[in-house]
Amino acid sequence: MLATETPAINASTSKSGGVGPRPVDILVIGGGPGGTPAAMALASAGRRVLLVEKGAGLGGTCLFEGCIPSKILHESAQRLQAIRCAKKFGLHLPAGEVEIDWDAIMRRKAAILQHRSEGALQRVRHIPTLTVQFGSAALLGPRRARITPRDGESEDIEFGNAIVATGSVPKLLPITGIDLPQVVTSEQLLEIEHLPKRLVVIGAGPIGVEMAQIFAAFGSQVTLLEAGPRILAPIDEEIAIALQTHIQWQGIVLELGAQVLGIYADGDSARVQYQNATGAQRNANAETVLEATGRHPNVERLGLEYTSVRFDHHGVKVDGKLETDEPGIYAIGDVVGHPMFAHWATVQALALAGHLLGRPTHFPTPAINSAVIFSTPEVGIAGLTESEASAAGHNIGIARYDFRADARAQVSGHPEGMLKLVYDKTERAVLGVHILAEGAASLLGEGALAVAAKVPLEVLAATIHSHPTLSESMGVAAREAITSGR
Ligand code: FAD
Ligand code: NAI
Repeated sequence: MLATETPAINASTSKSGGVGPRPVDILVIGGGPGGTPAAMALASAGRRVLLVEKGAGLGGTCLFEGCIPSKILHESAQRLQAIRCAKKFGLHLPAGEVEIDWDAIMRRKAAILQHRSEGALQRVRHIPTLTVQFGSAALLGPRRARITPRDGESEDIEFGNAIVATGSVPKLLPITGIDLPQVVTSEQLLEIEHLPKRLVVIGAGPIGVEMAQIFAAFGSQVTLLEAGPRILAPIDEEIAIALQTHIQWQGIVLELGAQVLGIYADGDSARVQYQNATGAQRNANAETVLEATGRHPNVERLGLEYTSVRFDHHGVKVDGKLETDEPGIYAIGDVVGHPMFAHWATVQALALAGHLLGRPTHFPTPAINSAVIFSTPEVGIAGLTESEASAAGHNIGIARYDFRADARAQVSGHPEGMLKLVYDKTERAVLGVHILAEGAASLLGEGALAVAAKVPLEVLAATIHSHPTLSESMGVAAREAITSGR
């Protein structure tokens, strides 16, 4: 069990005191992409819902520290790259190098976050049976919780059901120097005041890869240290290896099989000592070190020990209907463990809300999840990889497409990448779509639909894709696989 800290249970600190706890139908703990849509869907159907969020607004890690701020920086980095390549398109910039106004980038980020946060609050205000309380919630038992507002006295409430949607927090390596001021998490890097001249990134998962490429595009000298034999372990191996080449072309020093031994202060910089794949000891120096070695479920100070809810470092244990071992208490999103994506938290939230409202509900399974890694080029994934599909007992076929020959990819100046469709040769259904291409994020929508609807390869082949678009790759790959009997 992970260590939890629970606020002292002291009835005298509770507003409700002798009157008894205030009843609500459903308590939702956490206002991220899991908790907020769950609360809104349930309250819109007339349930009395109390949504408790300990941060400053609704949106969670995704809005304030994750998806949105990282994609805002990614967007500026992409535009910078495009300007640098302008000559290739016959466009000359008389002034030479582009000036990066980091403060302006950060102001743009803050403005978008504020706009989205205000939008979320406006939407919840229109739902009369939804109360949003900014503060923290902790369970006191199977049907009771204590709400401690950001300002003011705490209050005990009694709930019919509770949904735990408290997200995840960064894992920190248990090594010397992890607490040095130069060592930051993704949340702190996204708030950094100055572009670091040198950046060491520990961990080549989605966070490490995205941040390494963003900061390299802005001009930081980046070293990316990954303990495993390749980057982005869960994705298609061929795509991960191809992306590694792009990362190296970008000038990032990528060390696979790197065991970080410790981090030491070196003036204002930090020296990251690691053992490389050959066993040799090496050092990488940088003003900033990003620790991006994964995230674990946020169960701190939740009072789970006063209930039968079970959890470990992988997450809160739930059944196929997202119910914990404590009947009536559910968990969704990152706190349940992998996959950890904003849209996954939201689909779980909406399925659970439907279930609690007594509607026939189909709970999502990871086999039809999709995800985009905002790398350069982008990676889009839907459904199963080749090895997952084989392990699940499918007789698999692979349809392929090479974007080097693609008209749109050539026109847009990114003639690189691949598409792989994994399908069941007997049942014909598309089981997985794996894309490495600039534009994969937009292209993936069709792949996600094909996987979710178990579209037969023949239907994809017969779909009329407009020319010249990247989506033609889907039809061409499907047709060639059918023709060649692959
Ligand atoms: P969270 O968003 O973490 O929300 C949980 C909320 O619960 C928080 O607001 C927290 O303050 C609150 N809370 C916690 N404890 C309590 C308590 N006791 N009382 C009250 N409130 C509490 N995913 C994508 O799909 N696409 C991306 O591009 C993407 N990029 C990412 C980039 C980064 C740098 C990071 C870190 C993550 C990224 N993710 C991305 C992952 C995504 O942010 C998470 O999967 C998603 O936010 C999970 O949603 P959630 O609702 O489960 O948890
Ligand atoms: P992760 O767990 O996906 O990857 C961590 C990486 O660090 C792994 O490759 C692992 O081998 C490596 N690692 C672990 N210990 C190490 C060590 N001691 N030295 C060097 N490398 C080490 O976690 P990450 O990247 O922190 O992201 C967390 C989650 O956030 C992701 O799993 C993803 O679900 C979500 N996310 C999603 C994004 C998206 O959808 N575009 C973007 C960013 C994050």
